[in-house]
Amino acid sequence: MEKDIAKVVINEGQIRSKLFELSKTLINDYKDKEWTVIAILNGSLVFLADLIRLIPFPIRLDTVDATTYGESTFPKAETKVMRQFKIDIEGKHVLVIDDIIDTGSTLKMIMDDIKSYSPRSLKSCVLLNRTGRRRFNIEPDYSCFDIGDDFVVGYGLDYNNKYRNLPFIAVLKDECYRSEGRIA
Ligand code: IMP
Ligand code: MG
Repeated sequence: MEKDIAKVVINEGQIRSKLFELSKTLINDYKDKEWTVIAILNGSLVFLADLIRLIPFPIRLDTVDATTYGESTFPKAETKVMRQFKIDIEGKHVLVIDDIIDTGSTLKMIMDDIKSYSPRSLKSCVLLNRTGRRRFNIEPDYSCFDIGDDFVVGYGLDYNNKYRNLPFIAVLKDECYRSEGRIA
């Protein structure tokens, strides 16, 4: 994988210290609450795994499936949500976790969907915030890093279902992206 990387955008140390900071904020905000975390698959898996292990109290955990990109780096017009919660949402303090907010389509759709289950509170938390391409009226409640327009991979984020296991966030070399789907 190393040979495919053009540039490391956020390194492991930066991620570790940001997550520690975020965990302190979340511990403070949720310490007295019964806390439910809903992770958006698959991109949030690595972020989720590292983050929840910094939390010293019980967390109820569930996941929701969303697909936006498939084999392209252009967002599809519509995000598909495949939902089937295994735990109660009603009356719970829910935090939705995702790897990145870009246009806002995924997070908006999932937050709206979860709202219909009447949670006691509902907030969102992302690792990356691509602020320059928002199309939907939504901002994350917690966010670790702002990033630019370059399509990134690693730490859970994929290109064509690869590179999720890189321990940092990186931009791939041009030749690694399929030319027809590449963001300019
Ligand atoms: P949005 O719906 O446009 O906000 O896009 C959010 C979803 O698209 C995220 O959950 C990611 O799975 C995916 N995504 C957006 N940008 C990138 C990227 O740069 N690399 C990998 N996945 C991305
Ligand atoms: Mg995703």
